[in-house]
Amino acid sequence: MEELDLVVVGAGWYGLAAAKQYREINPEHSIAIVDYASSIGGVWAEHRLYPGLKSNNLWGTYEYPDFPMDPSVFGIQPRQHPTGQALHAYLTAYAKKFGFFDNVHCGVCVLSAEHLEDGGWILTVRSVTNSDPQEPQGEESRMFARKLVLATGMTSEPFLPRIKGQADFDRPLFHIKDLLKYADATTSKSVRRMTVLGGSKSAWDAVYAYGRKGIPVDWVIRAITNTFWHVLGSDVITLNGYDSHPEMAKLKPWTSAMFTASTFSILNYDTDFLSSSVTAAFDSDDQITPDTALSPPLLYHFIAPVSPRFLRTRDFAFAGGIMNFSAAICAHIQGLWIAAYFDGKLVRDPTAGISTSGPSQRSEPASLSLEDIQYETILYNRFGRWRYPADHGAKFPDFVFDVVPYMDVMMADLGLQVHRKGGWFKEITDPYGPEDYVDINDEWRRKFAEK
Ligand SMILES: Cc1cc2nc3c(=O)[nH]c(=O)nc-3n(C[C@H](O)[C@H](O)[C@H](O)COP(=O)(O)OP(=O)(O)OC[C@H]3O[C@@H](n4cnc5c(N)ncnc54)[C@H](O)[C@@H]3O)c2cc1C
Ligand SMILES: NC(=O)c1ccc[n+]([C@@H]2O[C@H](COP(=O)([O-])OP(=O)(O)OC[C@H]3O[C@@H](n4cnc5c(N)ncnc54)[C@H](OP(=O)(O)O)[C@@H]3O)[C@@H](O)[C@H]2O)c1
Repeated sequence: MEELDLVVVGAGWYGLAAAKQYREINPEHSIAIVDYASSIGGVWAEHRLYPGLKSNNLWGTYEYPDFPMDPSVFGIQPRQHPTGQALHAYLTAYAKKFGFFDNVHCGVCVLSAEHLEDGGWILTVRSVTNSDPQEPQGEESRMFARKLVLATGMTSEPFLPRIKGQADFDRPLFHIKDLLKYADATTSKSVRRMTVLGGSKSAWDAVYAYGRKGIPVDWVIRAITNTFWHVLGSDVITLNGYDSHPEMAKLKPWTSAMFTASTFSILNYDTDFLSSSVTAAFDSDDQITPDTALSPPLLYHFIAPVSPRFLRTRDFAFAGGIMNFSAAICAHIQGLWIAAYFDGKLVRDPTAGISTSGPSQRSEPASLSLEDIQYETILYNRFGRWRYPADHGAKFPDFVFDVVPYMDVMMADLGLQVHRKGGWFKEITDPYGPEDYVDINDEWRRKFAEK
């Protein structure tokens, strides 16, 4: 059985950053990043890039702090939204630049992970040829990992609600994740009509893909009852032109932007978003099964499970168990956080209140009891429900406006400088971006690595 110091499951933004950050701190350790997709990138893997896919983020806001997205290399200009292809190329280049591209094993699906009493993991994996995690086909094998990071993404599994009568529907019924497979349908004359269900960004993209080819699109959006129209003054409302078209007006957010998180989509299309062939309508909800009830996992600072068993062995973390529009920066900081946590080198160490499997190398005296960290974890767990009632907050951590305070929390855990702008005025007027976190690895190494 192959033995590795670290296995990361998932080769998207978070998995790649977790592997790279761990490698920087432990250059001699063996690592593997496994992903059932056929190429690097997670959401931005090659086979998932449907026509017209671009990031919501503008250039300069969706890049790792230590790997700027050079416009001349990735064919993207400032004030543009990077295309799916540019992001795939960028993430591939990141793995190559930091020397772990050959440690990424695509086409490998993790079927199960068994935690050993004294620490370490036995993973059962299958080499897949069909990229379908539900029914992966191929050879099964086992591997041993001393540490495990799950970076399987919040959007890598499709959620398909059941629709009454779908078994008798004789046309393709597919999730946006498979839009590329059906890309020909956007040009084929045989496609006479499309129905798109859902009112968020994926639905927008599907409507655009078909609508711009002149294919009539019936767009069905779940109506939210007992909510209210709120007059929003935000830039996004104006830029998205909700009042420019009667169909567009139907998409206007139901609640204030203040209570909306990552579903707050951006119009990033080359041509007019709505053609005359698109009609939006509200469904009455009774034809479709309701959402599956989910609640966020109990993770310390959205990363580390807080059961004494996992804290004792310090060999398991989640990367990317949150959704926000600063994914690249968060992935970078979380990667460093996880590497420091595994080494017992967090200043605010969640394992402080229990005896761990190895000597803790914390640089400050323990101050957190197990009760403290469990209490704090529950507070974080409930936060989204109250802060973002109009979004996914109750199901998983999903925040937009609170991302800088979250990054501050991780920086404080790492013992690094939280306020990084060099003055109070800049601190309140200058938005934080990747450039503010360029040096955190060096800063951390100078302070803690040798201790
Ligand atoms: C189409 C689309 C566009 C988006 N655009 C933006 C944007 O513009 N800006 C933004 O901030 N966010 C955007 N997001 C949100 C996006 O989820 C995050 O930005 C980011 O890509 C998440 O990265 P990740 O590494 O957490 O997960 P992912 O990119 O989803 O990667 C997870 C990987 O884990 C793999 N995996 C899962 N289970 C297993 C298993 N059992 N075995 C092996 N491998 C497994 C999956 O194959 C996948 O490749 C978008 C999401 C989608 C779906
Ligand atoms: N950069 C890009 O271009 C891009 C592209 C795609 C996705 N994304 C990002 O990826 C993330 C996920 O976006 P997403 O659009 O795929 O998913 P999403 O934001 O979760 O939206 C899902 C949509 O489906 C609807 N829906 C879910 N269950 C339903 C049911 N049972 N019946 C009727 N309608 C139902 C939801 O309605 P309710 O609103 O009523 O719940 C919502 O409108 C977001 O962060 C988004 O910004 C970005």
